Amino acid sequence: MRSGASPRHGRNPSSGSRRSYASSELSAASSSSSAASRNPVRIAAAALRSCFSSPESMSPDDSFADDPARTPAHLTPSTRSGSSSGGSTFGSAKQKWGKGLYSGGYANSPKRGEPGGTKFTMAEIQKATKNFNPTLKIGQGGSGMVYKGQLDDGTLVAVKRAKKNVYDSHMSLEFQNEIQTLQRIEHLNLVRFHGYLEHEGEKIIVVEYVPNGNLREHLDCLHGKPLDLATRLDIAIDVAHAVTYLHMYSDHPVIHRDIKSSNILLTDNLRAKVADFGFAKLAPTEADVTHVSTQVKGTAGYLDPEYLRTYQLTEKSDVYSFGVLLVELVSGRRPIEPKRELNERITAKWAMRKFTEGKAIETLDPNLSPSPENYLAVEKIYELTLRCLAPTRNSRPSMRRSAEILWSIRRDYREMFPLDSLSSPKSHQRNPSAKSH
Ligand SMILES: Nc1ncnc2c1ncn2[C@@H]1O[C@H](COP(=O)(O)OP(=O)(O)O)[C@@H](O)[C@H]1O
Ligand SMILES: [Mg+2]
Repeated sequence: MRSGASPRHGRNPSSGSRRSYASSELSAASSSSSAASRNPVRIAAAALRSCFSSPESMSPDDSFADDPARTPAHLTPSTRSGSSSGGSTFGSAKQKWGKGLYSGGYANSPKRGEPGGTKFTMAEIQKATKNFNPTLKIGQGGSGMVYKGQLDDGTLVAVKRAKKNVYDSHMSLEFQNEIQTLQRIEHLNLVRFHGYLEHEGEKIIVVEYVPNGNLREHLDCLHGKPLDLATRLDIAIDVAHAVTYLHMYSDHPVIHRDIKSSNILLTDNLRAKVADFGFAKLAPTEADVTHVSTQVKGTAGYLDPEYLRTYQLTEKSDVYSFGVLLVELVSGRRPIEPKRELNERITAKWAMRKFTEGKAIETLDPNLSPSPENYLAVEKIYELTLRCLAPTRNSRPSMRRSAEILWSIRRDYREMFPLDSLSSPKSHQRNPSAKSH
């Protein structure tokens, strides 16, 4: 995992004890979700409540019906009947959707259209990155440095150069893993693969350049204005669509295993793209196989407690991490905040406790307005979050179901408060007419 004894130790400033989640405590939180209904603000807002249809009563068709622009292209009517909620196997993922969803994107460079991506030469990479010019550094993770680059045809790319560590076989495995996963996938909300280079100790992956930083930086307000709640909901939905695609629709189902805010990249139009497939794992495809047993990997604070306990990995581990990400989006806090009071250090536990006590509003990011409409949306988001964070995987919703629920929350939020009234001079607003892809 990306903390503790891992060679990637230290990459995550919020890393902490992986035993931090006492599953019994979250279990207690789950069983007391009805306590949320005692919340006075909820009662006061009952008149508005009818605007929120019950997510459970929505059909998948309803959930994507009224926003064709945001309907994921892969959710065609024939796929919507596919079962996914509550299941823990990949039996329903046998439909092979293959690539081609967005395959037109490679048209301007025949070389990059090759299946499996281009094998770049070192000369091409050096030219693209001006010989790994330090001014072109755009990121640094546990596995190495990321540079901005430009290919000969003008395409902007991100060049991920693995640390050279001859003693580290993990790194080599992560590199192979990331390439193999990237080669299989293609989706609007996943970074697009361009190619790779493996030569004399150099391990380089080239993917599309996503220009607007990562989500953690935005939550830390490093890019100026804070993201408003509508935009945060959009980002959550983009991520949910990307992960649903990985779980259900790619050639071979994939478990990402490292869903977290620094792996969510944002476009200029604040659309989200999921990156970093170093820990991704192919899921079983046989209907009777429910999990893969594997060494635990992931980032402290986002790790599924059941996976930690049993070493059994399923797609529901991504759902758990997604629940942590939802809390991060609402609260702005990192999953582990070591400098806070003891009972606030594990952000998800703190937020779910507040929610079940009817005090969800106290967990709202100070950069968001504590308005009744925001509060209603946060309550709905936390209802879903509580399910995503359930201690056992069978109690968690599928990623697809999570996407549908979020979609209905966002639709109701926007219906109550049209875009104009959501605009705030202080916060980012997605430009609905701008095209970022
Ligand atoms: N395609 C990209 N476009 C723009 N920035 C990127 C891209 N890929 C990575 N980065 C930046 O580099 C950071 C580390 O990249 P990541 O792929 O997560 O590497 P690691 O495996 O080391 O965590 C990201 O958090 C992001 O800030
Ligand atoms: Mg990363």
